[in-house]
Amino acid sequence: MNTDILIVGGDGDLALRKLYPSLYYLTLNGCMPENTKIFGMARSAREHDAFVAKVKEWLVENTGALYDDVVWEKFAPCLNYVQGDSTDPASLERIKKEHFTDGASLIVYLAVPPSIFGKICTALEAANMAGENTRIVVEKPLGNSKETFLAIDQEFSRVFKENQIFRIDHYLGKESVQNLLALRFANDIFEPIWNHRHIDHIQITVSETVGCGNRWDFYEETGAIRDMVQNHLLQVLCLVCMEPPASLDADCVRAEKLKILKCLKPIDASNVKDSTVRGQYRAGVVGVEQVPGYLEEEESQGRASDVETYVGIKAEIENFRWSGTPVYLRTGKRLDKRHGEIVIQFKQNNTRLFRDQLTDNCANQLVIHLQPDEGIRIRMKNKKAGLDARVPLIDRTLDLSFCETAKAKRHDAYSRLLFDVIRNDQTLFVSEPEVEAAWDWIDTMRAAWASEEHKTVGYAAGSEGPEESDEFMARDGRRWHNGH
Ligand code: BG6
Repeated sequence: MNTDILIVGGDGDLALRKLYPSLYYLTLNGCMPENTKIFGMARSAREHDAFVAKVKEWLVENTGALYDDVVWEKFAPCLNYVQGDSTDPASLERIKKEHFTDGASLIVYLAVPPSIFGKICTALEAANMAGENTRIVVEKPLGNSKETFLAIDQEFSRVFKENQIFRIDHYLGKESVQNLLALRFANDIFEPIWNHRHIDHIQITVSETVGCGNRWDFYEETGAIRDMVQNHLLQVLCLVCMEPPASLDADCVRAEKLKILKCLKPIDASNVKDSTVRGQYRAGVVGVEQVPGYLEEEESQGRASDVETYVGIKAEIENFRWSGTPVYLRTGKRLDKRHGEIVIQFKQNNTRLFRDQLTDNCANQLVIHLQPDEGIRIRMKNKKAGLDARVPLIDRTLDLSFCETAKAKRHDAYSRLLFDVIRNDQTLFVSEPEVEAAWDWIDTMRAAWASEEHKTVGYAAGSEGPEESDEFMARDGRRWHNGH
């Protein structure tokens, strides 16, 4: 069946920087089905040629060696610009009549603010564009609490069935995140030790060097907890900790992730102080650049704010596999480096052998690097070469870098996800109950922050985060990977 793709918000930033390039990558990889048409839709008048030229310019400037004139010649004819109001059924009907392919399936990507999602759904229904051959794609922010999420979701479910709604979390499209499934379930060596008996704790870190400068108002509404933890970090946590699914089908994978979310111990007034740390960046130096603090960013216009740009959380999963093994999450803006990793810290065996040389801080460690470079490292103990069998042990690292694989990569997270929308595969998309369960956990924590007067602490831009975050780990006798 032919496919028409309608991108609502088709002249916006997301469309230009992510969606058209990812569809171009699909063409580059020979994965774009024949006769697919792409319609960028927006209210403003724009010449077709100018629109196509703008997409081309972006691709040439930003996709480096992946830009290829031959591929472009194949891709360009798929692109169309249509002017119209997506909340007006008459406008949609006109576009359908004038442009859409008869009998084609329709993918509607909402690259617009959630405030008009409901109106667009209603208009699509009224224009007879919400039938069973329509799929709708949305991404965060899907509300800013469980209540607001449910209100948004109701608008969708009034018109579409769950199997027509594709909720994007772009972290699930990252190669390294998907590799977690392969690492855990295609290598038998890990599964027997992947539990609280052998693992002391887990750390999931996503640190960024960018600030909130040009997104200040958005960040005021979200903070790190809603911008990064509610979605990306919790999804990674689920993939690291879930039980093996019965198959890789969407329903099976999503059901296992949901169980983890439902087993998260609530962080409320009783444990919030010991389980979370919130920070906000102050002025500092990132790389060689002197940058302002969050409160001095131009868009803040001098407004006061206690929004967190850094958060550290001790998450506990109350099930048989993980009881007693915390998962520490941390993410922040304006940190020293752009970096994403998962650390699996194994327990140190209580053995007499080598006791004097084996301390808690030198147990085996599996580090999964998510970005910018992908790879896996295992920290091992080795004997230093020499005649004496008891000479000191030394740390050695088994290093499996995926740089070469990454260099050969000809797609990004969005192209993989859009490819799945086209193939109608929901495995890498977040289900309604998952989003709801994630909000439940986040809402409880946020309420505890409010009632506990749990203020942010400062950290210098360009640092590893607030000192209090190290103290937070030290209280549990642990430290952040590569931390102090
Ligand atoms: C987005 C957040 O969802 O993810 C941004 O809104 C953040 O604040 C971004 O910078 C991080 O994504 P990535 O792929 O660069 O790690």
